[in-house]
Amino acid sequence: MKIITLDGPAGAGKSSTAKLLASKLGWCHMDTGAMYRAVALAALQRNVALDNEKALAELAASLDIQFLSGAVFLNGEDISVEIRIDRVTAATRPVADAPSVREEMTAMQRKLSRKFNLVTEGRDQGTVVFPCAELKVYLDASPSARAARRYHERIEHGDKSHSIEEILHSQIERDQGDKDRPIGAMEAAKDAIIIHTDGFSLENVVNQVLELARGRGLTSDYIPK
Ligand code: C5P
Repeated sequence: MKIITLDGPAGAGKSSTAKLLASKLGWCHMDTGAMYRAVALAALQRNVALDNEKALAELAASLDIQFLSGAVFLNGEDISVEIRIDRVTAATRPVADAPSVREEMTAMQRKLSRKFNLVTEGRDQGTVVFPCAELKVYLDASPSARAARRYHERIEHGDKSHSIEEILHSQIERDQGDKDRPIGAMEAAKDAIIIHTDGFSLENVVNQVLELARGRGLTSDYIPK
């Protein structure tokens, strides 16, 4: 099937871009960050030690993770809200650092790509998981714009627990962790198109990616509304 990868740091607009792009193309949206978060949530729920790589990988392999109507399901249960809480975000780091967990997730992600055309977002989609993707995009934005985006998203959900400065601080730590990871580190693939989203609306960014997709003959199913 056909694949568009969207990699880049948290807060650059990957999720909203991937969602809208997938809906315009009539393709599936795969949020691989949500998949790592789902494994972290399952580990917390089942008291699997976050430094036990073998147990984490076995757990990851046993999970049924699905995306339906914009929600994430773990073994049939909608976990879309739970996976965003701070405790799960913190637990996601050791889970995503574990090479054998990454192997399981890579296999799961490739399996999904055999059934559906995918807009897939993450950190390693263009570099490790789908090196032969038809189109690779790396979305970036300045640290302050990304922190502001995250801050406003939280406020929209009624969460005023962190200031922009606190969000910026934890974002810097998370970026470092994502870049330092020995396998699946966050980086643009050599053949990725880099889009800086500062100052661009969501529609504008999606149109830029659609234009690239059109140039590669990927938009035959797309009917502009
Ligand atoms: O995208 P999101 O911020 O939800 O991802 C949560 C964490 O999962 C990231 O900080 C990163 O450490 C990890 N991740 C990863 N590889 C991916 C997607 C996410 O390691 N493909």
